[in-house]
Amino acid sequence: MPQDFLSFFLAWMSAPGRVGAIAPSGEALANLITSEITPSTGPIIELGPGTGAFTYKLLERGVRQENLTLIEYGSDFMRLLQVRFPGARVLWMDAGRLAGSALFEGAPVGAVVSGLPLLNMSTRKIVSIVGGAFSYIRPGGAFYQFTYGMTCPVPRPILDRLGLKATLLDRAMLNVPPAAVYRLTRRPQCRLTGNSAVTSSKSDALKNGEA
Ligand SMILES: C[S@@+](CC[C@H](N)C(=O)[O-])C[C@H]1O[C@@H](n2cnc3c(N)ncnc32)[C@H](O)[C@@H]1O
Repeated sequence: MPQDFLSFFLAWMSAPGRVGAIAPSGEALANLITSEITPSTGPIIELGPGTGAFTYKLLERGVRQENLTLIEYGSDFMRLLQVRFPGARVLWMDAGRLAGSALFEGAPVGAVVSGLPLLNMSTRKIVSIVGGAFSYIRPGGAFYQFTYGMTCPVPRPILDRLGLKATLLDRAMLNVPPAAVYRLTRRPQCRLTGNSAVTSSKSDALKNGEA
């Protein structure tokens, strides 16, 4: 919506590092980041929805508001989201606190869609966000993250630590600025233990007392 550009710009002026963009994402990026999501994806977490550019696209794809948990740290954005998506669960919360928040019973989430500015965040924060998100993601589920950078914004050592792999989904060249979307998934035969991962063979070796 046209007025979203102004509210986004004002939010960026007051907290540039947290907002991470001067304008909401465009149609091409919203299409790309939600492209693998269907109504059967089940519960979805959206991190940093801002004014809802990706949220509207999820609804267009047939996702029910009741299946959406929107986690936003900007209080003005959070209030706007509550008005725009009254059927969704909108939480005013730091995505870095996902792990201890008991948002779901078990791990039913089919997808996490993230608009968070990870490039502006510390390694520790990224580990708590991505590790926390995967504690809710069911086997086979995925975490979708966009970036304006040239490489995956979750660095390789963090992926290794969490037992994840990153795949470039595609680039949205029509977005301003152009952006890329990465899909993060668990590596095969890997289980998460808190914020770290152990491969089955390694954990078996440890159980068997092997070094
Ligand atoms: C680049 S904007 C993306 C907004 C929207 N997804 C879009 O693409 O138009 C980043 C959003 O993440 C939110 N955000 C930043 N850090 C956050 C955190 N730690 N927890 C939750 N939301 C956060 C900001 O308030 C902002 O709404």
